[in-house]
Amino acid sequence: MPLDRLSFLGLRNLAPLEMRPSPAVNLIVGDNGSGKTSLLEGIHILGMGRSFRTQQVKQAIAHAGDSMTVHGRLGGDPPIPIGVRRHRSESELEMRMAGERVSRIAQLVEALPLQLINPDAFRLLEGSPASRREFLDWGVFHVKHDFFEVWKRVRRALKHRNALLKRDRMDAQSIVVWERELVHWSDRLDALRSEYMTAFLPVFDETLAELLPMPGLELRYYRGWDRRRELADVLEQGRATDHQMGFTQQGPQRADLRIRVERRPAVEVLSRGQQKLVVSAMKLAQGRLLEASTGRKCLYLIDDLAAELDTAHRRTFCHWLERMQCQVFITSVDPEALAGMWQPETAVAMFHVKQGRLEAHGTNDFTTE
Ligand SMILES: Nc1ncnc2c1ncn2[C@@H]1O[C@H](COP(=O)(O)OP(=O)(O)OP(=O)(O)O)[C@@H](O)[C@H]1O
Ligand SMILES: [Mg+2]
Repeated sequence: MPLDRLSFLGLRNLAPLEMRPSPAVNLIVGDNGSGKTSLLEGIHILGMGRSFRTQQVKQAIAHAGDSMTVHGRLGGDPPIPIGVRRHRSESELEMRMAGERVSRIAQLVEALPLQLINPDAFRLLEGSPASRREFLDWGVFHVKHDFFEVWKRVRRALKHRNALLKRDRMDAQSIVVWERELVHWSDRLDALRSEYMTAFLPVFDETLAELLPMPGLELRYYRGWDRRRELADVLEQGRATDHQMGFTQQGPQRADLRIRVERRPAVEVLSRGQQKLVVSAMKLAQGRLLEASTGRKCLYLIDDLAAELDTAHRRTFCHWLERMQCQVFITSVDPEALAGMWQPETAVAMFHVKQGRLEAHGTNDFTTE
């Protein structure tokens, strides 16, 4: 369901604003420092309960204010209002959906599946496994209904095992109990992730083939421990060194996606633009798989589309978005960079941000070339 209303209050440099976005393409243009990324950040906070620019949502509160509120409405029958508020002096985010208080961020994530592609996108290839695990688990979460429960059980068992490992004297009996629990839920989690990847890979290959044909590129799921060994054995045999280290060294908490080109890590071989296209293909493929598996569409936030991409690749990328019929919010400093990318039947809305204020410029300002 697309967002048909949005409002922001007290978010970074943005003046209080309301917008009625298009269910399809929303172009956000404006000069450097005008507030384009802040607008995307607001939508991200609404759907993910956190910012993509900072660890602390608090940083997104306007310097001059005490709180920040983002409201959105998922169009539908009936429409579903969602709201997120963060006060400077409170430690928690206040979340509401359909008039009720929401206690878990997972509820927001479930209601508003969104994907971000920004100039930092290449970090998914270059950065720590944690970001790739997060990417993977986003997909599994939306497609496999028991993922969240299984994941919580793994986390709990791991927490207990790690706490026991941190003690000088290990309580052997207790550790065996938690290992059994950990093994049981880790195997389940691995099965869910692995099934997801089996469905994901052909969709990814197809998407990438159009964006950037790269036959030597290989994406593989690593489950976090040797694939020839049972986790029970790995934990038992690793207990002494885990005790020395004070934490569990192998298991699904170390899962990763390994992306290689001709057997070399992709980051060592690909240019920045190519890396951005690979990451874009991964994110588009997740949206396509979400729809194929659940009938639900994903919302895309694309910050600075033009960065690193030439006109031809920008065009192919926009065609994918258009074909998927998702709601997208795309920013650019240059309106021309986004012009001529869309078919006449696509509802394109354009918004200008000027020093934190929004001006709508109607629909289908930029349709065809
Ligand atoms: N907490 C805050 N309160 C008020 N203003 C802020 C806050 N944090 C950042 N700003 C300012 O908000 C402005 C908008 O930043 P933003 O990153 O959204 O701009 P942008 O339009 O995306 O720019 P660019 O084209 O350079 O990416 C900047 O001038 C920045 O200094
Ligand atoms: Mg920006």
